[in-house]
Amino acid sequence: MSLSGCRIIDLPRINDPRGNLTFIEGHNHIPFDILRAYYLYDVPGGAERGGHGHKELSQLIIAMSGSFDIHLDDGFNKKSFHLNRSYYGLYVTPMIWREIDNFSSGSVLMVLASNKYDEDDYYRDYGTFVNAAKNLRDQ
Ligand code: TYD
Repeated sequence: MSLSGCRIIDLPRINDPRGNLTFIEGHNHIPFDILRAYYLYDVPGGAERGGHGHKELSQLIIAMSGSFDIHLDDGFNKKSFHLNRSYYGLYVTPMIWREIDNFSSGSVLMVLASNKYDEDDYYRDYGTFVNAAKNLRDQ
């Protein structure tokens, strides 16, 4: 997997004067089944989240409220995204190191994930992640 597989997905929007609505169906709007959702909130100013990679997990990251920056790295190239709309999702493939910062006050970051929580799926050490990414590319 490489950075080229990561992209912003423009989610469906039902605009309504009573308030807008967005929906997400697994294997329709995003290329995986949703087995887990989690969210970050009450993030203090200056905090940084992420700082890890996943071996097999796919994710969609959405700014449900507010904004933040996501920095992606496949071990060879890096790319940053600013998320600030609840109808855009950042699709993150497996084998991507991610760091998230610049949270605005009151922001809420939601993740839809392709699998349940499994600590064994994490790379928590950047050097280990880069070595694994290089080994996969050399195969
Ligand atoms: P982590 O994924 O490291 O958070 P972030 O990347 O957003 O900084 O998770 C932080 C802690 O929460 C860690 O101890 C694992 C735990 N956790 C769960 O128990 N279940 C989950 O679904 C997630 C995402 C994390």
